[in-house]
Amino acid sequence: MLSFIVFVDTFSMATVCNGGSRAANTDQRFQLSTSLHGAPGENAGGDGTLCVFIHSSFGLGISGQFYWDYCCWTCLQRESSDQSSILSGAVMGRPEGLARPPLVSTMELSLLALCLFVSTGVSSLPQPVPRVSLSFDDLQASHSFEHYSISDKAMDYRILHMDEDQDRMYVGSKDHVLSMDINNITHGTLKVFWPASPSKIEECQMAGKDPTHGCGNFIRVVQPYNRTHLFMCGSGAYSPVCVFINRGRRPEEQVFHIDSRTESGKGRCSFNPQVNTVSVMLNQELFSGMYIDFMGTDAAIFRSLTKQNAVRTDQHNSKWLSEPNFIDAHLIPDGTDPNDAKLYFFFRERLTDNNGNTKNIHTMVARVCPNDIGGQRSLVNKWTTFLKARMVCSVLEEDGTETHFDELENVFLLETEQPKSLLVFGVFTSTSSVFKGSAVCVYNMADVLTVFNGPFAHREGPNFQWTAFQGRIPYPRPGTCPGGAFTPDIQTTKEFPDDVVTFVRNHPVMFNPIYPVGRRPLVVRTNAEYRYTSVAVDQVMAADGNYQVLFLGTDKGTIQKVIVLPSNHSLQEDLILEELEVFKDQAPVTNLRISSKKQQLYVSSEFGVSQVSLHRCHAYGSACADCCLARDPYCAWDGLSCSRFYPSNKRRSRRQDVMHGNPLTQCRGFNLKAYRNAVEMTQYGVKNNTTFLECLPKSPQASIRWLIHRDNDRRKEVKLSERVLSTEQGLLIRSVQLSDQGLYYCLTTENGFKRTVAKIRLRVLSEAMVSVLMDKQQPWAWASSLHPKALLSAFSPAESMAVQQYCKERKELQKQQQPKQQQPQPPGPLRGDLAKLKPLLDLRKSRNRRNHLPDV
Ligand SMILES: *[C@@H]1O[C@H](CO)[C@@H](O)[C@H](O)[C@H]1NC(C)=O
Ligand SMILES: *[C@@H]1O[C@H](CO)[C@@H](O)[C@H](O)[C@H]1NC(C)=O
Ligand SMILES: *[C@@H]1O[C@H](CO)[C@@H](O)[C@H](O)[C@H]1NC(C)=O
Ligand SMILES: *[C@@H]1O[C@H](CO)[C@@H](O)[C@H](O)[C@H]1NC(C)=O
Ligand SMILES: *[C@@H]1O[C@H](CO)[C@@H](O)[C@H](O)[C@H]1NC(C)=O
Repeated sequence: MLSFIVFVDTFSMATVCNGGSRAANTDQRFQLSTSLHGAPGENAGGDGTLCVFIHSSFGLGISGQFYWDYCCWTCLQRESSDQSSILSGAVMGRPEGLARPPLVSTMELSLLALCLFVSTGVSSLPQPVPRVSLSFDDLQASHSFEHYSISDKAMDYRILHMDEDQDRMYVGSKDHVLSMDINNITHGTLKVFWPASPSKIEECQMAGKDPTHGCGNFIRVVQPYNRTHLFMCGSGAYSPVCVFINRGRRPEEQVFHIDSRTESGKGRCSFNPQVNTVSVMLNQELFSGMYIDFMGTDAAIFRSLTKQNAVRTDQHNSKWLSEPNFIDAHLIPDGTDPNDAKLYFFFRERLTDNNGNTKNIHTMVARVCPNDIGGQRSLVNKWTTFLKARMVCSVLEEDGTETHFDELENVFLLETEQPKSLLVFGVFTSTSSVFKGSAVCVYNMADVLTVFNGPFAHREGPNFQWTAFQGRIPYPRPGTCPGGAFTPDIQTTKEFPDDVVTFVRNHPVMFNPIYPVGRRPLVVRTNAEYRYTSVAVDQVMAADGNYQVLFLGTDKGTIQKVIVLPSNHSLQEDLILEELEVFKDQAPVTNLRISSKKQQLYVSSEFGVSQVSLHRCHAYGSACADCCLARDPYCAWDGLSCSRFYPSNKRRSRRQDVMHGNPLTQCRGFNLKAYRNAVEMTQYGVKNNTTFLECLPKSPQASIRWLIHRDNDRRKEVKLSERVLSTEQGLLIRSVQLSDQGLYYCLTTENGFKRTVAKIRLRVLSEAMVSVLMDKQQPWAWASSLHPKALLSAFSPAESMAVQQYCKERKELQKQQQPKQQQPQPPGPLRGDLAKLKPLLDLRKSRNRRNHLPDV
C-alpha cells in the first residue's frame, strides 16, 4: 500500500494521500480529490528519484460558482529497487514536532472559497479591518490568555467587583459566586454555591417564569462591606435575597463562604435577572438602581442597608424615571469637598410623547447626594437632590440630519492626568428601523457638571414645549448636597427650605443635554456584523505621545483593541489593532474590567470569564516594518523583535511610530530593501484549466497589486477580468493560456509602505500531457510498465524540458542540503516550504473566523 505525505506546492497545504486514490476530505459543500501520477524522469533510473505529477481539484458543490484545480510536479525518492515498493515512505519530509501530519481542514478550504465569493460579487461598505485577528485557539496557544467557566452550560457570568489591592475579582453567575485571583483566573478560584430555595424555584415556575433563564439565583450584587465581608444579592428565583460573605482579611487565607442568614433583597436586586441591577456600596450603605417589584413596573434608585431611613425615587413618577434600564453607577467627586461627591446613575429610558404613544429611548444620567435622607414635609424618604440630564451620542451629517445612538450599553470612567480630568466613555447602540450600529462617545465630566449647573427644564403643561426655566431658583440651588462647600450650615436634607424640595420635585430634568467631546462619537460602526456592548480604556505612554487604547467588547464574544488618531475628516480615524476571540461560543460580552497594574483585561459573557494580556507584541511579527505598521502603542521594535515598549530615555534604539506608522523613517537601515524582493518560485498550470497563485499579505489592511513580467516585455499590471481574479489569498486564473506564462509579482501597500510578497514564475503545460497522466484507477501501473523515455515522448519538447529542469533543480538542492540533514527535506525555494507552512496555516486559521460561510 502506498502511503505518504506530500506538500502541495501551489497551495502550501499538507495533504495526505493514500496511494493516489481519492482522499482527504469530503464535505457537503466542498470536495477535494487528490490523485498522484508518477512520471519517471530522464535521470530517475539510477538514483531512485521519481518525479510525480500531483493533480488535485476541489470545487464548491452548491451551484458551480466556484471550483479550482491545481497541479504540480514533485520528485520522490525511491527506497528500493523492487518495483512494488517503489514509492513507499515519506516523500518530502514530515513537519517536525507534529505527531501526525496536518490534514487539510474544511475550514481552510471554505475560507478560500469565501474569499473568492466576496471578491467576485457582493459589494459592501468598507469596514475597518483588524490588523491581527486571533481565534480562541490562537489565544490559548499564545500564553497570554486564560479562560474559566464552571461548566459548559450558559451560566450568565458578570464581573461584579474588582479589588486590585487584594488581587481578587468577584464574579456572579447563576447560583454561584466566584472569587478569582487576578494574576491568573484559572488558578485558585474560590467558589460559593448559593442556589435559590426549592420552594421559591417552584413558585417561580408556577408563575410561568423561564425555568433556566429566570428561576435561578442570578447573582447581581457583590459589594465590599468591611475589611472581612462582602455583601451579595441574587435574584433568588424572582424573590431577591442577600447575604454576607466572609472573604477573610487577606487572600492567602483562602476564606470564602456565606457568613450570615439570608435576608430579603427587595430594593437591592431586581426580581427578573434579565433586568439589570446596578449598585454602589458607600460607608456600609447600599445604593441600588433596579426594579423593586415582581411585576417589574416599579423602578427605583434605592438606598438600603442603612442605619438611617431608606430613601428612594418618587414612586411611579415618570418625570423621575420612565421605564429605566440601569447600566452603571459611580460615586464622582464635585470639587474638593467630599460632602459634594455625588452618585451618578447611568441608564436609558423609554419616553412617551405628548399623546402617550410613540416611545423613544434616551440615555440619561441621574445623580443624588449620598447623604440625602429625604425631605421634612414633602419628599419624605425620597431623594431631595435627584436631578437628571440627557446624554447625546450622535453624528451630525453634512446635510444637517442627525443620526442618534440612543441606547447606552456600557460605561467606563477614566481619570486622566494631563489635562487633569475625568472622562466618561459610553458605548451606545441604535436599533432604529433605518440602520443598526454602535458608537463610542466620550464625555468630559466637567461638561456633565456644567449641564447640572445650568438651566432646569420647565414646561407649563403636558402639551407645552420644554423650555429653560427662567424664574427664580431657590437657595441652596436644587441638587446641592448638604454639608458641602456651598452649604456648610445645612447638615441634612431635612433642613432644606420647602421651596427647594418643591422645586426638585417639579424640575428634576436639566434643560441642556450633555454632548460628547468634539460633539461627535470617537468610534462609529454601522453595517458591521457586530455591535459593541462594553468598553474599558487604558492610557498608554508611547514614544510619540499618550494614547487611550480602547478595548471594546462585542455581541459576538470578541474584543477589539482600538486606537483613535486625529484626522481632518468629519470622523476621526480609528484603527483596530487586534481582534481577539476570547470565548469559544459567540455570546455578547457582558462586562469588561481592566487592570493597568497587571496589564490584563478581564471579560465575562454567558459562558465564562476570560483573562487576556493587554498586548501580544510578538503577534505582529519580528520585522521592524511589521512592528511599526502595527502602530500598537504598547509595542516597539527593539532591534531584534517586536516587544513591549516602556518609555524611558535610555532606550533610544527602540523604534515606534504610532501616529504615522511609517517604516521608511522608523526602520531605516534595517534591511528595508529586502521587502522589495521575494524568493522566486515556479508553478505549473495546465492549459485550459484553473490555477491559483498564492499571495498572502502580511496584513489584511494592505492593498494588493499584481504585475507580470513576460519574456521580452516590460513589467505590466496584470489585467483583471472574469478570467483573472484577484482574491484576498491570491490570483485565480481560469482557463490558463500560454500567454499567461511569465513572472508574477504580488505587491502590497500598507499605509504607503510597499513590498513584494510573492514572485511566482508560471509555466503552462498542455492538457494533452496531463491526460496521459490521468489514470485514476491505477496511477502507478503505467509507471512500472512504460519505459521512462516512452513516457517522456508523450510530452511536448518544452514540457519535457520543464519537467527535467524541475527535477534537476530539486536534485541539486537536495544534494546541497544532504550534508546538513539526514532526512530528505523539501528543497529550496518551493511553495510549500516547510518553514513557511506553519505560519501560513496559523494565519489562515486566525483569519477564518472573520469570514463566515454564507448560509446556503
Ligand atoms: C495559570 O494557572 C494555570 C494552572 O495553574 C497554569 O497552567 C497557567 O500557565 C497559568 N497562567 C499564567 C499566565 O500564569
Ligand atoms: C464585617 O461585617 C460582618 C457582617 O456584619 C460582621 O460579622 C463582621 O464582624 C464585620 N467584620 C469587621 C472586621 O468589622
Ligand atoms: C489637517 O489640516 C491641516 C490644515 O488644514 C493640515 O495642516 C494638516 O496636515 C491636516 N492633517 C491631516 C492629518 O490631514
Ligand atoms: C482550450 O479551450 C479553447 C476554447 O475554450 C479550445 O478552442 C481549445 O481547443 C482548448 N484546448 C485544448 C488543448 O483543449
Ligand atoms: C481541469 O482538469 C481536470 C483534470 O484534467 C478536468 O477534470 C477539468 O475538467 C479541467 N477543467 C477545465 C476547466 O478544463
